[in-house]
Amino acid sequence: MSSKLSKGKGPRAVHRCQGCGHVEPRWLGRCPACGEFGTLVEELQAGTPPRPSAALVADGAAPVAATEVVELDAKARLATGIGELDRVLGGGLVPGALVLLGGDPGIGKSTLLLQLLAGIAGRRGAVLYATGEESVAQTALRARRVGAASAAMKLCAETDVDVILGHARRTPPTVLAVDSIQTVYTSELDSIPGAVGQVRECAGRLMRYAKTTGVPTIVVGHVTKDGAIAGPKTLEHLVDVVLQVEGDGASPYRLVRAHKNRFGSTQEVGVFEMRGAGLVEVPEPSALLLAERPLGAPGSVVVGSADGNRPLLVEVQALVAPAAAGIGRRTVAGVDANRVSLLLAVLAQRVGYDILGQDVFVNVAGGLRLAEPAIDLGVACALASSHRGRAIDPHTVVFGEVGLAGEVRAVQLAELRLAEAKKLGFQRCILPTQNRARLESDLGLELIGVDRLSAALAALA
Ligand code: TYD
Ligand code: MG
Repeated sequence: MSSKLSKGKGPRAVHRCQGCGHVEPRWLGRCPACGEFGTLVEELQAGTPPRPSAALVADGAAPVAATEVVELDAKARLATGIGELDRVLGGGLVPGALVLLGGDPGIGKSTLLLQLLAGIAGRRGAVLYATGEESVAQTALRARRVGAASAAMKLCAETDVDVILGHARRTPPTVLAVDSIQTVYTSELDSIPGAVGQVRECAGRLMRYAKTTGVPTIVVGHVTKDGAIAGPKTLEHLVDVVLQVEGDGASPYRLVRAHKNRFGSTQEVGVFEMRGAGLVEVPEPSALLLAERPLGAPGSVVVGSADGNRPLLVEVQALVAPAAAGIGRRTVAGVDANRVSLLLAVLAQRVGYDILGQDVFVNVAGGLRLAEPAIDLGVACALASSHRGRAIDPHTVVFGEVGLAGEVRAVQLAELRLAEAKKLGFQRCILPTQNRARLESDLGLELIGVDRLSAALAALA
């Protein structure tokens, strides 16, 4: 990183305790006021810490009736032209929004950002992409590879946030993007880029830029091992939208979702596939995920899952095999291993299967991670199918939550799951009785409502 310049006249940098607010001129490992360790963070005294955006949008006007406020103009939103992304954003980028794009290193944040910027540059004019991660040449090469290179894509390799903002003020772009918040710094603080104080101050400056100019601004943030973006969670409070790119390194699929969205729903998820030419939209993920399914193989079951408002039919595979030393091993990918243990115990105690001493493998096809209780019944059916060596009818979809007593409980979004099953040509569905009872129509499917796991297994036999 660049060597630190001597501090100019500007506002004075101080160190404030994040616990009690005590201010020290120098950094100390322990706060002398409250005694906490490692809580002192550098900040600018005169500049004050970044204000929440609520304060920046405050206009001092008298209160008005909610019904009289004109709705945010949909036309003002900058659509990216990437359908899967626009849906997650709620129609596009909102003027003045500060967006945090998070995800594990190497997951595809920079790639998605370039493609997003290219979509907007093509429709609305020049965008500015400032990167502290790669050189201009590397970025240009990648832009060309993913078809994002154009004269309207302005690149600069810069880590001084004030220089970036200087460029953005001289020639205002349609969108400003900074990759990443951990690599930028302001020379008014002594700490190194990536330090809590730097991240916060730089994000605060970018937010003031976005709010005062109306230019939507996107910052990339790496997720640390414990899942927090950029270490300081405070960033998530500051920004308007938190977009997260998720995926398993081994699988080409990437999910993009909004963990926070001041201008739209957080229930949408966009599905992409990482290819040689960047991220490609997957508008019909269920069809793709089921394409290679082995028909008539024991242990394979199609689960009616849902991610946010997005129905996803996914194949869950189980293999139950004799254990070598009489002690069953569990190898689980894509679903919660504790949940699988629970389902095995329920199969053993409530249905009478001799399954606890066996080796058990569970996998979700496509490398997806399913985290909702509605997949329980499907996982239990896959385990039972493999244990019995009997295949499940390939035209059947299963969903429902399983309780400790072996009961099957209702889940959310039953209609959505069934509609997806119908769309993909499935004929039967095994679902919780309570969901079955509340349905207004059968959607042309043979619906089998079950209230116990044993009833579901009997229906499959
Ligand atoms: P990148 O966008 O650099 O990830 P991040 O910014 O989140 O760190 O993408 C990382 C990986 O994506 C890289 O290892 C290679 C792969 N990739 C492709 O498979 N195809 C492509 O067209 C591009 C640009 C990247
Ligand atoms: Mg990157």
